[in-house]
Amino acid sequence: MPTSATSPLDWADQTLLADERAGLSRRPRRRQGGSAPHSVVDGRRVVVFSSNDYLGLATHPAVREAASRAALELGVGATGSRHLSGCHAAIDDLEEALAGFLGTATATVAPSGYAANVAILEALGGPDATILSDAGNHASLIDGCRASRSRVAVYRHREVADLEARLAVAAGRPIVVTDSVFSMDGASADLAALDRTARRHGAWLVVDEAHALGTTGPGGRGLCAELGIGGDHVVRVVTFSKALGAAGAAVCGSEPVRRLLLQRGRALIFSTAPPHPTMAAARAALGVLIAEPEVVSRLQERARSLRLHLGPAALGGENASSPIVAVMIGDPWRAMAVDAALWERGYLVQGVRPPTVEPGTSRLRLVASAAHSEAEIEGVAAAIRSLLEV
Ligand SMILES: Cc1ncc(COP(=O)(O)O)c(C=O)c1O
Repeated sequence: MPTSATSPLDWADQTLLADERAGLSRRPRRRQGGSAPHSVVDGRRVVVFSSNDYLGLATHPAVREAASRAALELGVGATGSRHLSGCHAAIDDLEEALAGFLGTATATVAPSGYAANVAILEALGGPDATILSDAGNHASLIDGCRASRSRVAVYRHREVADLEARLAVAAGRPIVVTDSVFSMDGASADLAALDRTARRHGAWLVVDEAHALGTTGPGGRGLCAELGIGGDHVVRVVTFSKALGAAGAAVCGSEPVRRLLLQRGRALIFSTAPPHPTMAAARAALGVLIAEPEVVSRLQERARSLRLHLGPAALGGENASSPIVAVMIGDPWRAMAVDAALWERGYLVQGVRPPTVEPGTSRLRLVASAAHSEAEIEGVAAAIRSLLEV
């Protein structure tokens, strides 16, 4: 961090230059033409392999229709937080439908997955608690740990033995926190082992299912549902921003979890409730998922095919199952050079660098969608293999 700055702007310039020199400057790309997997990005027509719209629901006719109708009938903004004027019937309906779908006692809507993760850790944590957090957890969980004012112990990525060792010396109420499907490598947490450990230590188990809802488990119900993980100590966070093609999120768990959230979850309490069209879109997308569970199998086939065609380039190998497929590169400059070369060949594949991932592990992050064709999957895999010479 630069220290020789002579003014606020000087500091800003030096800080941005330091990022630039380290190959870590970020420049969002301009996308035109909506959310479909075919798009014009920075003026070039590309097939998008960096979208979290796993099932193609962001452009599903029923989802669009529901959002439009809500805007016309109700307006757009929710007008206030859940405790002020923002507690609309449509949010209650969505919560009820989601709790029924997941088999949890309650679901509590939050404006985003980020806010949901921060809010649940604020609600459950505190200075008398220790949060045990996987090193690969999403930034929103990391920020939630900080916001909760809990003690924090980070255990090695997916290493339950390391978690056990840290739990053995942890002071205060334990809370184990993990992504179920990790966003940057597509690997799954060993939820069965984490649940056994959490039960043995009387810990909460908070599972971020952002990338598991709609992609895995029976009818897309996520990894907890697939493994039969449940009970009053388990809290699941699901987002509407990924497989449901909308925005917002919900924290799903027991009745006291909901009450704690509404009492202590500052990121939820002090944010405006999600807009009407967004809630209507999420509810409609959930309806599509329930009515057409075969879309999840289609996604899984695409993901399998992408790994198969990438061969040794795919992290986790051909047997991994998530639609997130990472290709390890290491150096941030090289990762962005391959990202740019792929864009020139007509594929939008995101290069990911620190701080999103650990230094030295810059990578390409590909996301398969049920809306991709087999030819597009073969095409992007062939382009990557030729660029990386694997
Ligand atoms: C694992 C994980 N959790 C939470 C979030 C945040 O969700 P949202 O984009 O809805 O705020 C993301 C999104 O990037 C994510 O990947």
